[in-house]
Amino acid sequence: MKKYIDLRNTKDYSELKYAASIIKEGGLVLFPTETVYGLGANGLSPVAVKKIYEAKGRKSDNPLILHIANLNMLDRIAKNISELEYKLIKSFFPGPFTLILTRTENVPNEVTAGLETVGIRMPSNEIANKLISYADVPIAAPSANISGKPSGTNVQDIFGELSEKVDCIVDGGNTDVGLESTVVRVINDIPTILRPGKITPEDIKNVAGKVNIDKHIFSKLSSDEKILSPGMKYKHYAPNSKCVLVYSKNNNLLKNKIKEISDSYKMPIILSRTENINQYGNKVVIDIGSDVNEIARNIFSVLRKVDKFNPDIVIIEGVDPQGLGLAIMNRLIRACEYNYIEIV
Ligand code: TXA
Ligand code: MG
Repeated sequence: MKKYIDLRNTKDYSELKYAASIIKEGGLVLFPTETVYGLGANGLSPVAVKKIYEAKGRKSDNPLILHIANLNMLDRIAKNISELEYKLIKSFFPGPFTLILTRTENVPNEVTAGLETVGIRMPSNEIANKLISYADVPIAAPSANISGKPSGTNVQDIFGELSEKVDCIVDGGNTDVGLESTVVRVINDIPTILRPGKITPEDIKNVAGKVNIDKHIFSKLSSDEKILSPGMKYKHYAPNSKCVLVYSKNNNLLKNKIKEISDSYKMPIILSRTENINQYGNKVVIDIGSDVNEIARNIFSVLRKVDKFNPDIVIIEGVDPQGLGLAIMNRLIRACEYNYIEIV
């Protein structure tokens, strides 16, 4: 890393002009958004975008999202936008929402992994917005993490794995949402959620009248299936230790099952909601938060810490898969590599 810019306690963003110049010159900048940190490069430069794949160890068939600062940037990169798509844009930009649109010729194949579509997002985070404005190009940015690891929600968590691979780090403190954006594609006039996030199915239904949720949110892809969002087929968010996700609407059943599982291991670690942290005797327990907003904010950082305890099992309390809970459960099921127990 050549430059660290600390914007945690200031509203003076003048140093972002330097970070923007790095983007323009084809370098890599680690920067905050309201969802998770991004690993950004000039989204119109094939050479710059390739550096992202190298730094992350990302498979070249997994496309990137282009981040814009205003709607003037949209027409350069997307075309044939329908009325419904405009409605979604008006409702959810700027914010934790990515819309898959038909791309223009200006978007390099390296960004879309050869697809005819491109994911577009306008972050609401002020630092992200200023950085894109100063750079005056769409910024291609995946979540900042080595592929397969939980996404970075603060600079400390990802400094070790990425600092030597980027030209500049912009530190904006902890991210607000903590989970990546909701990814939506309009299919046959129905907004279809390819990845759940802070913008919930209910939010989208309120705007569009209808919404579909792609079935792969909770299930593994079989090898012969058509893949709408390539990212869904890769291992993600997983600690090195073996994990199991346990959920029940009935809290007593949930606690009993977790006790039972933990008793059959030597070094279990339990990721528990605040209300249950005193329910597991002398077992090692990490508090993941009391409500879905808090859990979303904490969960990636917690998943990054568990390996340090050298557990033989990580037992994770699930949440009701409603609203933001749907996104939390999607990430946790994948962190557990589909090792999921629901007790009814
Ligand atoms: O909140 C976020 O979206 C963060 C911040 C940095 O903006 N970015 C992020 O990017 O999570 P990434 O690359 O980690 O995840 C993007 C997801 C992947 O699952 C990818 O497969 C999918 O979006 N995606 C991107 N372009 C697509 C396209 N054209 N069609 C379908 N899926 C696409
Ligand atoms: Mg990612």
